[in-house]
Amino acid sequence: MLEKVNHIAIAVPSLSKAILNYKSTFNCNISKPLKLIDHGVTTAFITLQNTNIELLEPLGENSPIRRFLERNNNGGIHHICYEVKDINLSIKSLIKNNCKILGDGIPREGANGKPVIFIHPSNFNGTLIELEQI
Ligand code: CO
Repeated sequence: MLEKVNHIAIAVPSLSKAILNYKSTFNCNISKPLKLIDHGVTTAFITLQNTNIELLEPLGENSPIRRFLERNNNGGIHHICYEVKDINLSIKSLIKNNCKILGDGIPREGANGKPVIFIHPSNFNGTLIELEQI
């Protein structure tokens, strides 16, 4: 089911500080910050040759990454996103394997404008997994 790693996401308390740090230290390409109101985050992508790194800053009071940042004050690796060909087929297979899909289990538009879902970390050794249909 899994294709490439689309991105690895890092939660950060300040997106502007993180962008500055990555740019000044590594001189890397970073996309313009994008507010995803549905997901409660502002994102920016460090683009690399083989994958991307998504920097995530909380947006709004009910941001799902607020609690993560309360436990990890300086930020930390938040999730890994794998590409899939057919997200609805993937969902069927996940349900058959007793995986818990976060939220209502219906794909939503992610940062790349493609449908995404998240699988509960308890299913995969404490790793929050995002699946994105490419
Ligand atoms: Co992501």
